[in-house]
Amino acid sequence: MNTSSVPDLATIGLLGFGTMGAGIAQVMAASGRRVVVLETDRARLDEGFALVGASLDAGVTRGRLSENARTSALARITGTTEIRDLAGVEAVLESVTENGELKKALLTRVAALVGEKIPILTNTSALSVTDLAAGLPNPARVAGLHFFNPAPAMRTVEIVRALHTGEDLVDRLFALVETLDGKDAVLVKDRPGFLVNALLMPYLNDVVQEYDDGLASAEDLDAALRLGLGYKSGPLEMLDMIGLDVHLHATEAAYRATLDPRYAPPPLLRRMVAAGMLGAKNGQGFRTGEEGGR
Ligand SMILES: NC(=O)c1ccc[n+]([C@@H]2O[C@H](COP(=O)([O-])OP(=O)(O)OC[C@H]3O[C@@H](n4cnc5c(N)ncnc54)[C@H](O)[C@@H]3O)[C@@H](O)[C@H]2O)c1
Repeated sequence: MNTSSVPDLATIGLLGFGTMGAGIAQVMAASGRRVVVLETDRARLDEGFALVGASLDAGVTRGRLSENARTSALARITGTTEIRDLAGVEAVLESVTENGELKKALLTRVAALVGEKIPILTNTSALSVTDLAAGLPNPARVAGLHFFNPAPAMRTVEIVRALHTGEDLVDRLFALVETLDGKDAVLVKDRPGFLVNALLMPYLNDVVQEYDDGLASAEDLDAALRLGLGYKSGPLEMLDMIGLDVHLHATEAAYRATLDPRYAPPPLLRRMVAAGMLGAKNGQGFRTGEEGGR
């Protein structure tokens, strides 16, 4: 963590203060950076601040964070609903709703405001970074900076090199991630799922299919993979945490982009989402609620 000197990319213009935006704001503020968060309205800003506050409080309660560090991290984050307040930021990091048209329209407006030299980063999970960069002035300053959920806790950050991303930007992003507490960066190609999700999605799809085929109970599948492979959580409990709808959306997008059958959503997953079973967030999933999906 770098709080003693002014870090590179010292003021981040963050677009979106939802689940990921709140976590990223916390991580950036904890590294000594100022964060200006853009949201659609005041209520969303308040919700974002509440998420950051609760996460920092948990850090204090667990003894990982001092009261002082909590207060100064929060003080480095400001919220706005006006794009013009992003003038003067040293980098833009977008983490708005996963919708390509929305992201492109917003980035076009923000790019016109901040000028051609300011790095533009995206936290998209499933969209092509190259595609988001196309049409923006100077696409060499565009890259993916992909955090995992929850951003304050998950250590890996994928630096996504799009077709036009400049080498100098890649170097700067490695240096940036080094200043983020406990984070490690990996450099990945701009392809559906990047690296982690490209490998995770077929694994989750396979397990859902094996469960539907009756290979074992949900509990036993999770226990076998958790204990057998030394993973922290079983695949079905992980799916519940991710959200069945979120995984379905991601794996469908990867399938559309690649036509690779490993990404084709298993029929049970579709049925569960159609039935409103979304996982932990509504208490109905493979390992939450009554009977997982059958
Ligand atoms: N949730 C995850 O597990 C996860 C993990 C890694 C990456 N991502 C990616 O992060 C991004 C955000 O995901 P999330 O889970 O935080 O979504 P979310 O729905 O929790 O938050 C998105 C936020 O964007 C805001 N927003 C929408 N349009 C806006 C605009 N024009 N200007 C400013 N703000 C706007 C919304 O009000 C909302 O608060 C997506 O691209 C997603 O793919 C998500």
